Amino acid sequence: MKISVPTEADKGEPRVAATPETVKKFIGLGAEVTVQAGAGAGSQIPDEAYAEAGATVTKTAAAVLKSGDIVLKVRRPTEAETRALKPAALVVGALDPFGHEGDVKALADAGVAAFSMEFMPRITRAQSMDVLSSQANLAGYQAIIDAAEIFGRAMPMMMTAAGTVPAARVFVMGAGVAGLQAIATARRLGAVVSATDVRPAAKEQVESLGAKFVAVEDEEFKQAETAGGYAKEMSAEYQAKQAALVAEHLGKQDIVVTTALIPGRPAPKLVSADMVASMRPGSILVDLAVERGGNVAGAKPGKIVETDGGVKIVGYLNVAGRIAASASALYARNLYAFVETLIDKENRALAVDWEDELVKATNLTRDGAVVHPAFADKGGE
Ligand code: NAI
Repeated sequence: MKISVPTEADKGEPRVAATPETVKKFIGLGAEVTVQAGAGAGSQIPDEAYAEAGATVTKTAAAVLKSGDIVLKVRRPTEAETRALKPAALVVGALDPFGHEGDVKALADAGVAAFSMEFMPRITRAQSMDVLSSQANLAGYQAIIDAAEIFGRAMPMMMTAAGTVPAARVFVMGAGVAGLQAIATARRLGAVVSATDVRPAAKEQVESLGAKFVAVEDEEFKQAETAGGYAKEMSAEYQAKQAALVAEHLGKQDIVVTTALIPGRPAPKLVSADMVASMRPGSILVDLAVERGGNVAGAKPGKIVETDGGVKIVGYLNVAGRIAASASALYARNLYAFVETLIDKENRALAVDWEDELVKATNLTRDGAVVHPAFADKGGE
């Protein structure tokens, strides 16, 4: 049983899918691990650390990809990577398949079994495999660190002989995993924090972190959570009421972090150009939803946009990757927790239970076909 860890082909991806810690554990399960030279460089992991953990460090991507019965990835393999894979290999990563049906078909055509970690069900057994949570948590933290760096003022209130510096006012829109960590981080830095969400369960969580909850709490709000714990798309009426409340609140904020997402839909537009214009010069908006269309009007993927009114809209991509060493450590553990379930501990060999609910939920392709229900009619059998 050979496990391969290639360097991510995307130059903008500093994370790596295995760390020396997880390499050691895989070897303990009977695997031989090959890591491509430089794979950990963006996450502060030198090749020697992988070698010390027992991995073979190999120079070329092709050799690494070809040898793996299991290939651990952060991102979806490129076409060239897919062509280099061993037929019937398992490929596990955050494959981001929606909108990339051609690539999914290519994985099927290559005969590999691809697993998309984002589809991991949010059940107790799979909590340690939840890459969305582990990465969103760090992105929420990093959003506040980025905002604090760009903000030309102090975050906490400071009483000095020269007078008082007021505490920064931080507003977090979307209090899921990323939003809650943003709230906690802003509070630790001494900011006065408020937050909004459309899920009623968020209210208590926001308040338990010492932040004020700001939302239109009508009948629709009370019903606004799916059984899976995610947000529903709200009615136009609700959105209008929410927008009015938010508009009034935004003008008083120094830093706004938006994280609002609805699974399978574009990100909801929460902050209009007029709302941005109502903010004071020097205010910062960090849009963590920018990769999914953005919550803030004028946010540009990968850019910091400064408006005529002196407001900066931060649209950094791959925010978890901006704190890559921590992000890789958690991501690698998520992957280990899942891949371990595909290995028979006694025989020290691959033994995938294709009927297991975690396997079924995450498996995109198998035996030359696209098998995931979300894609089966788009280039599958
Ligand atoms: P997400 O990344 O899909 O969305 C982020 C946040 O945006 C959510 O809180 C959502 O309610 C909010 N949002 C959507 N539309 C909005 C709007 N118009 N205005 C304001 N906010 C809006 O969500 P995430 O972070 O993945 O969390 C979703 C839920 O799943 C949470 O309840 C979280 O606690 C839960 N969860 C459960 C896990 C488990 O049981 N294993 C693991 C991780 C999260």
